[in-house]
Amino acid sequence: MGRALCQQLSAAGVHVALCDVSAAAMAETQALCRAQAPAGTRVTTCVADVSQEAQVLAFRDAVINEHQTPHIHLLFNNAGIGGGGGFVSGDRADWERTFNIDWFGVYYGARAFLPLLVAGPGGCIVNVSSVNGFWASLGPGVAHTAYSAAKFAVKGFTEALITDLRTHAPHVRCAVVMPGHIGTSIALNTYDVMKLTAAQLAVTRARMLKAGAPVADLPDEAIRQLLLQRSHAAARLGAHPRRHRGDGRRVRQLDVDPDHQPAAERRAGPAPDRRPPGRPRWADRNPPDDVPGAQL
Ligand SMILES: NC(=O)c1ccc[n+]([C@@H]2O[C@H](COP(=O)([O-])OP(=O)(O)OC[C@H]3O[C@@H](n4cnc5c(N)ncnc54)[C@H](O)[C@@H]3O)[C@@H](O)[C@H]2O)c1
Repeated sequence: MGRALCQQLSAAGVHVALCDVSAAAMAETQALCRAQAPAGTRVTTCVADVSQEAQVLAFRDAVINEHQTPHIHLLFNNAGIGGGGGFVSGDRADWERTFNIDWFGVYYGARAFLPLLVAGPGGCIVNVSSVNGFWASLGPGVAHTAYSAAKFAVKGFTEALITDLRTHAPHVRCAVVMPGHIGTSIALNTYDVMKLTAAQLAVTRARMLKAGAPVADLPDEAIRQLLLQRSHAAARLGAHPRRHRGDGRRVRQLDVDPDHQPAAERRAGPAPDRRPPGRPRWADRNPPDDVPGAQL
């Protein structure tokens, strides 16, 4: 998503400074941007881990130097990873890695760059949360705590910042983005699947079994290959089956169905109805959107 954003901005002649932990990914993004951008558009890169404040501050200093500017107009806090699902029995380091990137990345980014936005004639901070900032769930039986906690924090912080900015720096605005499930490389970028530990593979295997996949007897290597294939397929096609409607148009509404049942439960027959009396089903509350052209 960050790459697409950089491409669109630079194609419109906006100078862009990007940071990432992956120098190789940034070099690709930079080349794609330069191929489309009008002459004179600057696209600079900086290796920085957004969960480390010192690195974010170094990135800010690089922006000031390389772009020779005392201010910026736009700040996108977009970097993020998945993972860190289990709080009860998951690995603590894994949990904190996800929370630190997804929450502290946004926080340190806003801390570092706010003075440069305030110093300018007007600007906007755009923080990327998630549909999991509305619903802290990936479905029944799947722990999803670190990511959800971080994405709720990003949403709450940004909403509160609206008032703070209106009061103390009204020429700067902020917005929060709540994407549904998008077919990006996030699964691949979260873990290098070839380096997953035995414990992480065991959690993955348990999750696949719960979803009805016959992976009980597969060797670890086969699980790695399955993960790799799934991640590549998701990045190519879109991670969610309902990302496109039958007619090929993108869905407009939030693409999460809290009534969703894993395949194993579906095969076992209809799930017991646990909704409070009178509460309509998700599908009834979200009729298909048939407004021509009104797509995101
Ligand atoms: N893909 C989805 O379905 C989805 C849904 C909701 C929200 N989001 C959010 O959208 C944002 C973008 O995700 P994406 O799907 O494009 O993922 P992506 O993996 O394709 O891109 C994320 C980028 O962040 C970089 N990154 C990871 N850790 C970093 C760190 N510590 N410091 C700096 N850069 C780091 C990665 O190298 C990668 O280039 C994330 O905040 C993600 O949580 C994604």
